[in-house]
Amino acid sequence: MLKDRNILLIIGGGIAAFRALELIRRLKEQGAGVRCILTEGGAEFITALSVAGLSGEKVFTDLFSLTDEAEMGHIRLSREADLVVVAPATANLMARMVAGVADDLATTALLASDKPVMVCPSMNVEMWEKPSTQRNVAALEADGIICIGPDSGSLACGEEGAGRLADIDLIVAEITALIGTGARPLAGLKALVTAGPTLEAIDPVRFIANRSSGKQGYAIAEALGRLGAATTLVSGPTALRVPRHVTRVDVTSARDMLAAVEDALPVDVAVCVAAVSDWRPETPAGSKIKKNSGAPPALKLVENPDILAALSAPSNNRPQLVVGFAAETENLVEQAQAKLASKGCDWIIANDVSPDARGEVVFGADENSIHLITADKVEAWERARKSVIADRLAHRIADALTRKAG
Ligand SMILES: Cc1cc2nc3c(=O)[nH]c(=O)nc-3n(C[C@H](O)[C@H](O)[C@H](O)COP(=O)(O)O)c2cc1C
Repeated sequence: MLKDRNILLIIGGGIAAFRALELIRRLKEQGAGVRCILTEGGAEFITALSVAGLSGEKVFTDLFSLTDEAEMGHIRLSREADLVVVAPATANLMARMVAGVADDLATTALLASDKPVMVCPSMNVEMWEKPSTQRNVAALEADGIICIGPDSGSLACGEEGAGRLADIDLIVAEITALIGTGARPLAGLKALVTAGPTLEAIDPVRFIANRSSGKQGYAIAEALGRLGAATTLVSGPTALRVPRHVTRVDVTSARDMLAAVEDALPVDVAVCVAAVSDWRPETPAGSKIKKNSGAPPALKLVENPDILAALSAPSNNRPQLVVGFAAETENLVEQAQAKLASKGCDWIIANDVSPDARGEVVFGADENSIHLITADKVEAWERARKSVIADRLAHRIADALTRKAG
């Protein structure tokens, strides 16, 4: 809840400015007071009237307004907030923040603020990936500014890639975790999440791997951390950044992953999202296998340790709640129910990884559709972004753990 919390929302001149209206609505629903600064660019995309209507407050736009300065003043505007949020944060605003520019009301209030600042970037993928923007984001983070998103997916400009404003649900969850009351139900508890693929060496240059991107597991680790759990993420090789609120341990093979998981115990909840290779080559060659050394080599495979089963087995170290993932391409629910029984875990998230009607696969995608399977129930969750599924799952885990404790 955000009751009695005040947020100063700076709305920049990006195509996603209209989504700031939804953000205001959601923050108000949580009980927050929301005061807004609309940049000159922002006012090209949405009107001050809509912002005022939703926030129920006067909207500030002009640094040199005699009345605003007399009534409120840019210093008070920034000081009366518990948090300053810039959404959408344009490439331009972030560059000016890094440089300490204060040539309009938004940048002046940011410079005058003594409160935490959160930026939610949104822009075209090329703008986002430019070294200058990446340098600016790194500089803002080094200055202690919290950066949420952007998400990847299809962009307003018709291109694909990173640059979408983070999900409003996620922004609200991050704001609530930062300044909300009663928002950290997992505080004092420990969580372990495995994510990504494992790589099993064939020889020094080749390996067996799989298509797991790690995105769903990373989002779950971040969501558990946001709710206050001390979270360890044991990750196979991925291209992803370390999520917020999480300690990451990097591993390569299934056996490395098991060792890191055992090191992280005891924990209250374990969520096994990693796509652990079922098999590995029995004896990896010590030097590169040459193509011209005769017939193609036969790969003799042996079974890898079963990390989910190991965590689920009764022992003093067994987490209170063990959640597994089942990636299936057919008979999803039946296969997942069989996995729940055979592994001894408490819940299974069944994940349909067969290509959809458009031929797109779940691996690497930003959305997922899952079933939550427990000993006595099967729930079909509607398709949603992986961050939204992660947040919902983290709340379900918090409900289950606090119910057990209560
Ligand atoms: C149609 C249109 C869409 C734009 N969308 C974005 C955007 O999504 N993100 C961004 O960083 N800049 C975007 N820009 C550029 C900004 O509007 C421009 O840099 C402006 O100076 C930003 O002002 P501000 O940072 O003070 O809000 C867009 C410009 C136009 C004309």
